[in-house]
Amino acid sequence: MDIRIREGRPADAEICGRICYDAFKTISEAHGFAPDFLAAEVPISLLTSMLANPKFYGVVAEIDGRVVGSNFLDERNPIAGVGPITVDPAVQNRAVGRRLMDAVHDRAAANNFAGVRLIQAGFHTRSLALYAKLGYDVREHLACMQGNALNIAIEGHIVRPAAEADVDACNRVCRQMHGHERDGELRDAIARGTATVVEHDGRVTDVKALIGAAKEFAGPGFLLPTRNGELFRWCLRNGLRVTQPMTLMSKGLYNEPAGAFLPSILY
Ligand SMILES: CC(C)(COP(=O)(O)OP(=O)(O)OC[C@H]1O[C@@H](n2cnc3c(N)ncnc32)[C@H](O)[C@@H]1OP(=O)(O)O)[C@@H](O)C(=O)NCCC(=O)NCCS
Repeated sequence: MDIRIREGRPADAEICGRICYDAFKTISEAHGFAPDFLAAEVPISLLTSMLANPKFYGVVAEIDGRVVGSNFLDERNPIAGVGPITVDPAVQNRAVGRRLMDAVHDRAAANNFAGVRLIQAGFHTRSLALYAKLGYDVREHLACMQGNALNIAIEGHIVRPAAEADVDACNRVCRQMHGHERDGELRDAIARGTATVVEHDGRVTDVKALIGAAKEFAGPGFLLPTRNGELFRWCLRNGLRVTQPMTLMSKGLYNEPAGAFLPSILY
């Protein structure tokens, strides 16, 4: 089987988005989970914006000139983010995924990223095995949490939309916590109006304040490190539900977080 890997282009968004939808739907349904995306239009729109954004590197796999999968490298931050990677269900388990991973790792190495990270669907044995073989370590067990907005205010904590003027302070907190910044991702979230900040000194309560003030939990929900038992139980006590297990995996530089945090998945 002749697999060809090439750089992605905006015109690939439709076919890659459909494959992304089919691949996640098939694997989720095979394990009794709800699909990550409600309709194919959601990943088509996501991949359209990623393929048009120079801060994302996209690769496409072809067999006999037919597109069969894609993968991405989020280059906005010092630690690059891998995914979403998806392969047409009809040709899965035939080395296409490995080739798509090799392509983004080559790119990360060429651009001197200190490390790469990804979020793995925790129930999926194939992706877990593939990533481990490619050198990724399991860093954090995550619960994807969903539910109605909590509308809980924590005394002494002011939650408000983030602005450009908050970038330095946010980067400082991120450096203290993870040893590096998420400057590019943060600026994008501020521009889209999806970033919030909390003003206070403490730690776990700060994350609680952010979760408590969220107007909605968009998409599949937010990712909660289950090791943080106090925060996990607080979310459960307040009616949030676990939709699926996930795993934070990384390769290269990784610093153990110095406090409570919620990892991002993308956008
Ligand atoms: C995950 C995915 C991208 C992998 O692509 P793929 O083309 O199917 O995978 P590959 O054939 O390249 O690699 C699978 C590897 O895992 C190994 N493997 C598969 N199941 C395994 C298991 N249960 N235990 C051990 N190894 C296993 C295979 O032997 C192969 O190893 P190799 O590269 O050393 O030969 C693809 O299956 C997919 O699109 N899945 C649905 C969407 C998804 O889950 N995306 C990733 C989200 S984290």
